[in-house]
Amino acid sequence: MDLKTFKMYSVAGMEDVPPAPRSPVLRTEPRAVSPTVLNPGKDELKSILIRNTSDAPGLTFKTEALTIVVVGASGDLAKKKTYPSLFQLFTLGYLPEHFQVVGFARSNYSNESFRSKMFTSLCKKGDESTVQKFLSNCFYNQGQAYDHVPSWEKLGLHMTEFEENVNHHYCKDCCNRLFYFAIPPPQFAPSASAIKRAAMSGSGWNRFIVEKPFGKDSGSSAELSRKLGSVLSEDQIYRIDHYLGKEMVQNLMVLRFANVFLSPLWNRNSVKCVIISFKENFGTEGRGGYFDEFGIIRDVMQNHLLQILSLVAMEPPVSVAGENHSNYVRDEKVKVLRCIPPLSLDDVIIGQYCAANGKPGYLDDETVPKGSKCPTYCLAQFKINNSRWAGVPFIMKAGKALNERKAEVRVQLKCPPGHSTMFAGHDMPNNEIVIRVQPDEAVYMKMNVKMPGFRTQPMMTHMDLNYKTSFPELSSKIPDAYTRLILDVLRGQQSAFVRNDELEAAWNIFTPLLHSLESEKGPDPLPYPYGSRGPAAADAFLSQIYHRSEEYMYMKRAPSSL
Ligand code: BG6
Repeated sequence: MDLKTFKMYSVAGMEDVPPAPRSPVLRTEPRAVSPTVLNPGKDELKSILIRNTSDAPGLTFKTEALTIVVVGASGDLAKKKTYPSLFQLFTLGYLPEHFQVVGFARSNYSNESFRSKMFTSLCKKGDESTVQKFLSNCFYNQGQAYDHVPSWEKLGLHMTEFEENVNHHYCKDCCNRLFYFAIPPPQFAPSASAIKRAAMSGSGWNRFIVEKPFGKDSGSSAELSRKLGSVLSEDQIYRIDHYLGKEMVQNLMVLRFANVFLSPLWNRNSVKCVIISFKENFGTEGRGGYFDEFGIIRDVMQNHLLQILSLVAMEPPVSVAGENHSNYVRDEKVKVLRCIPPLSLDDVIIGQYCAANGKPGYLDDETVPKGSKCPTYCLAQFKINNSRWAGVPFIMKAGKALNERKAEVRVQLKCPPGHSTMFAGHDMPNNEIVIRVQPDEAVYMKMNVKMPGFRTQPMMTHMDLNYKTSFPELSSKIPDAYTRLILDVLRGQQSAFVRNDELEAAWNIFTPLLHSLESEKGPDPLPYPYGSRGPAAADAFLSQIYHRSEEYMYMKRAPSSL
């Protein structure tokens, strides 16, 4: 049954929808896979993390001078993400000997008052003396506006002075500048244009990190790209999507293309459906006003989850390392995105949370416009019209104020052919490959074994690779997504950043749906209680596609209990 037909008769009366058949299950404890090499002692950790990337190309920046300018340094993003990630790179030894971080914003700070503003949050990431050392390389420059050329000239002089001092030492010809835009997108192009006139390095690279939202639909995104593209070249622009820096998202390519037993399964012959889900157990508390302009589809689906989908579905890239690999990977992502027809209202179920369990509903937030129809939950069904995936439903689900915090990918396989005769009278649980992005990174495979005892009855268990137990030391040291991505920028690696044509393809999929949702006749979202699994209709629809075993539950075990 497709989603359109399903919605026509069942959204109103969910009790008519048949439940998914149940399967017998076996709950097993995961076994630790603990090769010594993956369980180093504490002293070896730092060297392993460093070795992992110092073997890699692109580290010449470490022997050159570097200025990182955080544009919008007085804001929340800079405090919560940018500075802590730069500090983590510093503690791991990834910043060059001659580096400085300059905060640029309109607020009035001195170097000292800015350092004290950052001090407490950085102390959560390292000891006080290392924080002090890092902060002694941090400066603050107040500007009149982000596009005010004289303000950038002043900052340009500061950078030149720093670089001239360094020149005496060892890196005469190479002074690199990284501009991190933690400012609203409409300011990107005017600010880049002022920087280009007054503050670019003439003796090294100039790179720019920009943050979403990259527009609100195809038209506004194209306009932003056109303006930014008239000032900067594509290889200077790093559009950050922090999900692409998450360990398990980066793992997707290795899992898919480095395991020979998975490759033959990863297509329409064996895959029944793919579910990509994002759940948060808190609402929009404190940022309802901002959220209402975007909604869950723009906030996480068009970017974070679609990036995951493209990595799950794309064809193998020519190479994931070496020259030009950044484009090889992104070429494949764009190709698969172009095989996805645009979504319409018939392809989605939308919801909005309401007050429950002592928690306020979305509309109770005073910053949210009265009667807003903004979706805080969405289930969408995608088709991928190519030879690998035709006919396989890809379901994306995302929601705020749900029953748990979790992001994961489930690839459910078809049942073995002929099972109903061979195992007559028994349910056959579907095999499944689960990649848990967060919390507690894990990969596990749900597989069938004979139920122990006299009967020849299949039952479900799992093969488990839980990072906490399998890599006990390394798992707690997995770098933050932003840290990893900023390092990629320093190394000039763009594969984990969104290319212009990729962005365009992503907006093409979502724009017609967003316009219909926001038209006068746009549907009302289905209410769901704060802390629930989302609208009942979504689960009921999913049970037509995905065989959910009610009894089976993936069991985790804390390392201490081993
Ligand atoms: C952001 C969204 O991009 O991602 C937020 O704007 C969301 O609404 C966040 O909460 C989720 O990121 P993470 O890393 O906490 O899963």
